[in-house]
Amino acid sequence: MTDEPNPLLEGLRVRRRPDPCLLVIFGASGDLTEKKLMPALYALAVRRLLPERFGIVGAARSEETDDAFRERMKAAVQKYARDPFKEDTWNELAAGIHYVTLDFADTEAEGKLADRLMQLDEERGTLGNRVYYFAVPPSAIGTLVEAIARHRPPSGWVRLVIEKPFGHDLQSARELTALIQQHFSEDEVFRIDHYLGKETVQNMLALRFANGIFEPIWNRQFIDHVQITVAESIGIEGRASYYERAGAIRDIFQNHLLQLVAITGMEPPIDFTADSVRNEKLKVLKSMHTPGPKHIVRGQYGPGFVEGVEVRGYREEEGVAPNSMTETFVAAKLFVDNWRWADTPFYVRMGKRLARRETTITIQFKRAPHPPFEDGHTEARPNLLLIHVQPNEGVSLAIGAKVPGQGMTIRTVHMDFLYGGAFREGLPDAYERLILDAMLGDATLFTRSDEIEEQWALVDAIVAGWERDKPAFPNYAAGSWGPPGADDLLHRDGRSWRRH
Ligand code: BG6
Repeated sequence: MTDEPNPLLEGLRVRRRPDPCLLVIFGASGDLTEKKLMPALYALAVRRLLPERFGIVGAARSEETDDAFRERMKAAVQKYARDPFKEDTWNELAAGIHYVTLDFADTEAEGKLADRLMQLDEERGTLGNRVYYFAVPPSAIGTLVEAIARHRPPSGWVRLVIEKPFGHDLQSARELTALIQQHFSEDEVFRIDHYLGKETVQNMLALRFANGIFEPIWNRQFIDHVQITVAESIGIEGRASYYERAGAIRDIFQNHLLQLVAITGMEPPIDFTADSVRNEKLKVLKSMHTPGPKHIVRGQYGPGFVEGVEVRGYREEEGVAPNSMTETFVAAKLFVDNWRWADTPFYVRMGKRLARRETTITIQFKRAPHPPFEDGHTEARPNLLLIHVQPNEGVSLAIGAKVPGQGMTIRTVHMDFLYGGAFREGLPDAYERLILDAMLGDATLFTRSDEIEEQWALVDAIVAGWERDKPAFPNYAAGSWGPPGADDLLHRDGRSWRRH
């Protein structure tokens, strides 16, 4: 592949291309490979960001030939990639795609995989450098890690990219970390939280730390509270066996949501290196204490209408127990107990089958201390800074403005920055950025083991409290904004969720 200038690079600037390497995907027959990983690799190929010497090896239990795997991946790229399909780009990528049938617990099979990788190193000139991508459940990771350690090539680097969930609770996460650390160092481990790969989440760092105007007011003196909504209109999409065990608390709260809190709340890092950024996020996670029972609300959707379409309730989904107590919604009032944020609530909510897909971080500032205008003409609403993580990605500032004409009537207007208007290219998918960063060895946008442990400690404490009471599920209709308790959480404090 050549280094021609390419206008498509605008959305994904890199300082260098990764070293030659092989990318091995464990769990290659799963959804993630089709919907996210392969389309992301194709987008990187279109932008000529992949290493010059590169190969992809899919590994999974099912029997499949190289050709059949390539055909399936081609169809996935045609369906899910963000770029128009180009036969020659695909062919160039596909020439380096291979498949190995692998029973993860079979030591003979692991030897065969190792031999195949050595052979591909020879053929493709990939120097023994390996990225292993674990798109498998946590229970399968240990065996694979040990197998990789046994067959480590004499030269080249190794990077382990591990999908969430990393463990099921604090203890299992610690055990997994201990096992990995027997063979690999922390800088060889890349734990994915794909929210960190989203442009708009990284832009939160730019907004806060590349602008002089926000940081002085980013604290309890000027901010009344923070709201974070991670709403999805989709249900569980055939993932009952995973979701029944995970629920919203492990699926979204433990990782994506807490990372958004950490990024919103963190102190300025001294530089943008992996450890500096992660040290600051860790301090936020450590400052959070377990919300009491009144400060956390669970929900499960019943039947309803989402965007005009009738959908069934969670308990009617295929593979879900008819009396399931798994939560599909969580709302909480959280506190970050430090000098910057003491007594400033972070209200968070996340759920499946809500009215629409929307992830937003809302910073609500305190009201002006004394509006001098006559009562009745002032819509005295506080200023809001809205970070639209998705969709309609951008940032919006709500301010009071004078309505044109006689007198002094004030109304709220928005100053908007929309990605679509400001930049030429569409936003890269989070996986493009993260796969590239892992190949480059940059762990800044990956979670470190101590962050994961803090996240699990909080979740374990919340879940332990839940053993005591059993809410009457289902308690919200699909297509609504969640159970009434989520509204009460704010109403009790004289506040409400931002209007939609
Ligand atoms: C995944 C969860 O981590 O994130 C899914 O397992 C969820 O349940 C998804 O749908 C949401 O990601 P995004 O990027 O669509 O907001």
